Amino acid sequence: MGFPVQRMRRLRRNEGIRNMVQESRLSVYDLIYPMFVVHGTGIKKEIEPLPGNYHLSVDRLEEEARAIHDLGIPAVILFGLPEKRDEMASEAYDPKGIVQQAIARLKKNVPGLIIIADVCLCEYTPHGHCGIIKDGYLLNDQTVDLLQKVTLAQAEAGCDIVAPAAMMDGQVAAMRSALDKNGFTGVSIMGYSAKMASKLYDPFFKSATESAVAFGDKKSHQMNYANANEALREIAFDIEEGADIVMVKPGMFYMDIIYRAKQKFGMPLAVYSVSGEYAMIKSAAQLGRINEREITMELLTSIKRAGADLILTYAAREIAPFIK
Ligand code: PBG
Ligand code: ZN
Repeated sequence: MGFPVQRMRRLRRNEGIRNMVQESRLSVYDLIYPMFVVHGTGIKKEIEPLPGNYHLSVDRLEEEARAIHDLGIPAVILFGLPEKRDEMASEAYDPKGIVQQAIARLKKNVPGLIIIADVCLCEYTPHGHCGIIKDGYLLNDQTVDLLQKVTLAQAEAGCDIVAPAAMMDGQVAAMRSALDKNGFTGVSIMGYSAKMASKLYDPFFKSATESAVAFGDKKSHQMNYANANEALREIAFDIEEGADIVMVKPGMFYMDIIYRAKQKFGMPLAVYSVSGEYAMIKSAAQLGRINEREITMELLTSIKRAGADLILTYAAREIAPFIK
């Protein structure tokens, strides 16, 4: 039974009908907002390639986080810019480290907001690599030991969810056991399970965390972006190791992996729509070439349609008021 009995355009006739049959819909509850904490007080400095996003001292972070929670956004993910960087990334697991301070402050003063902390060392090492470097190579197991320490420091500070981003083998299992041994059985793990070695991160480490690598690249641990089957294996390992939520990162070019991950595992799936995605849209919008809000809705809705449950995005704050 086809045309003329079937007319697909009937259900596109007006906005009311279109809304009724819309299959995927963005909700503010899907959003996770990334935030960047710095030492000091009274600091709110815009991150140039990511307009609408800021370096914030803990006091200003609290104000901003409250506003974000008031918009209905359930969670933020915190990144820190340390006072000093060293080979052992010591501020990452210092109980007085910047992220630990931020976690404690937000847990105390913004009740109900879910606090996620990124677990990686690249913001804390002088060379910008994600862990301990020996002869130019990133050591796996020694780095994992430090990631355990970071996790515990964040959990002690009151973090709800820890998010291992380093792409070290065995990191999720190591963090789960460290948490459980220390009584933090209720702290969740959101694994950056399939994290590609992507050029879309440049605005993040060049400007947002000021932690660009001093030599080499991250291809010995982040994934080859050409590999989708391998991405599924990475996700399977994170699930086996105890991840509560798994992630695909970036979003924009990786819809096939998002789709396959959701179909195959049915796990809570987060997608990180990264700095380069946001910066490209902002730049084109500033030139008047595209409609920023409409394009952002299209991108985020497409990520949901592909299978994401949660989306980490720098647009969370700007887009939330426009999501019904
Ligand atoms: C690691 C981390 C990075 C991002 C999130 N967590 C940097 C990297 O892996 O090189 C990138 C996020 C983005 O580009 O928006 N701490
Ligand atoms: Zn890293």
